[in-house]
Amino acid sequence: MKNYTDIHDIENIPEMIQEAIALKANPFQYESLGKHKTLIMLFFNSSLRTRLSTEKAAKNLGMEVMILDINSTWNLEFTDGTIMNLDTAEHIKEAAQVLSQYGDLIAVRAFPTLKDKALDISEYILQSFVTYATVPIINMESAIAHPLQALTDAMTIAELSSKKKPKVVLSWAPHPKALPHAVANSFVNMMQSINVDFSITHPKGYALDPNITKNTPISHNQEEALRDADFVYVKNWSSYDDYGKVLHQDPDWMITKEKIGHACCMHCLPVRRNVVIEDAVLDSKNTVVIQQAGNRTFAAQAVLKKLLEQL
Ligand code: CP
Repeated sequence: MKNYTDIHDIENIPEMIQEAIALKANPFQYESLGKHKTLIMLFFNSSLRTRLSTEKAAKNLGMEVMILDINSTWNLEFTDGTIMNLDTAEHIKEAAQVLSQYGDLIAVRAFPTLKDKALDISEYILQSFVTYATVPIINMESAIAHPLQALTDAMTIAELSSKKKPKVVLSWAPHPKALPHAVANSFVNMMQSINVDFSITHPKGYALDPNITKNTPISHNQEEALRDADFVYVKNWSSYDDYGKVLHQDPDWMITKEKIGHACCMHCLPVRRNVVIEDAVLDSKNTVVIQQAGNRTFAAQAVLKKLLEQL
């Protein structure tokens, strides 16, 4: 694994999930592996879980951590050949090479515009770091993928499932703001890669990228889709076809206690209570969102460990 930009960078996903579970049982087993190594974390956008869990993961491995809110530094230019006489002060070509001298691994969070579909799909920020940095790059949520979250989600399902092939449903839920597709995309990719009975439910108009959903069953009938589910992964995303638009916020799609039944309710967090998921679910024993968020540390630790071993 040279970088971790997408779940497909993992050579053996079941092995990686077991590694994360083993690290949770014994987090300091490899505390010398990262000695004298530094993780640089660059944030173009806000974060609570990713920021702190990845820092904790690095420290469990003995690494030093440097965090930079990139919006507080020089405005970066990403286009090749630009005459930089406007707002951008530093080109990614220099910035990425300079950062590579300060850190042994670089992690980047950069959300999509949700306005320019082609630009977002190009993953120009993340891919520019991959191109110009001379150290491995870790995706802490890019325009179209959140692979650290997806590894956490698979780990949580592995921990909780008593079945060999649990039924897992990804359900769209309402939200007042236009949200990215990254979490849903990576969750779909991950569920397609492990042994689960997986389907997606969303209202018409909210289809994800067909290159990602491929032949995953999709239903527009949420009640029917959720029946007998073992895990319901709840997430909002904006329209992909009518790119970045909130077509409606149909409250009938909110996840309720009745809809969840006996299933485990998963969400990457942060979650808007009584809009996306009702209190009666989030305050019940069905919710596993806190365990999921806790697992972020060990999924990140498994990824960092793999990258450190290959330096
Ligand atoms: N789930 C997740 O990525 O949380 P943060 O945005 O708080 O990092």
